[in-house]
Amino acid sequence: MKLHVNLAENGYDIIIERGVLSRASEELKLERKVLIVTDSGVPKQYAETVAAKCAHPVIVTVPEGEGSKSFSMLEALCRKMLEEGFTRTDCAVAVGGGVVGDLTGFAAASFMRGIDFYNIPTTLLSQVDSSVGGKVAVNLDSVKNIVGSFYQPKKVLIDPDVLSTLPRRQIAAGLAESLKMSLTSDKELYEIFKAGKAESDIEEVIRRSLLVKINVVEQDEKETGLRKVLNFGHTLGHGIEGAEGLSGFYHGECVALGMIPMCSDEMRPELIRALEKLGLPTSVEGNIEKMLDIATHDKKCDGGSISVVFVNTPGSFEFKKMPIEDFKSLMRERFSQYIR
Ligand SMILES: NC(=O)c1ccc[n+]([C@@H]2O[C@H](COP(=O)([O-])OP(=O)(O)OC[C@H]3O[C@@H](n4cnc5c(N)ncnc54)[C@H](O)[C@@H]3O)[C@@H](O)[C@H]2O)c1
Repeated sequence: MKLHVNLAENGYDIIIERGVLSRASEELKLERKVLIVTDSGVPKQYAETVAAKCAHPVIVTVPEGEGSKSFSMLEALCRKMLEEGFTRTDCAVAVGGGVVGDLTGFAAASFMRGIDFYNIPTTLLSQVDSSVGGKVAVNLDSVKNIVGSFYQPKKVLIDPDVLSTLPRRQIAAGLAESLKMSLTSDKELYEIFKAGKAESDIEEVIRRSLLVKINVVEQDEKETGLRKVLNFGHTLGHGIEGAEGLSGFYHGECVALGMIPMCSDEMRPELIRALEKLGLPTSVEGNIEKMLDIATHDKKCDGGSISVVFVNTPGSFEFKKMPIEDFKSLMRERFSQYIR
């Protein structure tokens, strides 16, 4: 199945197909130098399958984990391309999750002011969300995604077969991002979650999630407005993620928790049931004030107020700009009972 992201000269196709990895050379232009970036946690046969289809492959394996979204790894990738004599017409391919995708995309955007970038996402989170939309970045100290760019891939290949090696907890974390998109924008997708059929119907979940993301990105490529809807659950989610340290809960798990207080009181019990069905957390240990301080210090804050997304009925959303103190009070009221 082919989806298209319509962004004038930056438009591209997304191929969703079991086994597409072994057809990479039919879909991607690999008759040139190809930097294949993967990480140490991704089964190495995926990068090797792609390398076997390339004329001049150069595989770089970075350590798994968020720590690889760093300046030193960015430098390592650029150095490798320089050493191997890459030119403006060569390309980089990410074979991994969001960490590898964000890092490789930023290296591709930076090297010689931009070489072709292909994304082959291998986690569910990266298949439903991060591989599409062109946000590429590295972290600086503990500040996530603070140095980056908008740089669209030339093509995205999604092979649901690679999910067979992904740990169940990572599957659930990816489903959290998809559930997020269903809540704000796709009631039918939400019905799949409510019926407990998300995992058995994974290709449909990937397809529908990407349609939501594509629709948003096409209208607002650089996040000046509508694209902020994708931040649903992320404000408190970032607070939880920061308070936990970057190595505690997975990003998707923090987003799952972060959605709880952003839903209406009527919807919340149903959301909690959906999260439980997926094996996602519905409570967290920690200090709410610390979470709120981190949440309100991030980039969505502006002049004492914060822009957030609420969902009152599944499939629709409301943007609200509110004073930070009001936001904090609402979160205390709606989320304290979910803190252990
Ligand atoms: N660019 C965007 O729009 C965007 C959106 C959301 C999240 N992100 C970023 O994505 C990152 C999180 O991505 P993620 O959740 O994919 O995490 P990740 O890239 O760290 O991957 C999770 C783990 O799964 C392993 N793995 C990957 N594929 C596998 C497979 N098929 N089988 C077995 N193991 C596999 C990895 O080695 C890693 O240990 C964060 O840095 C976040 O900021 C970016």
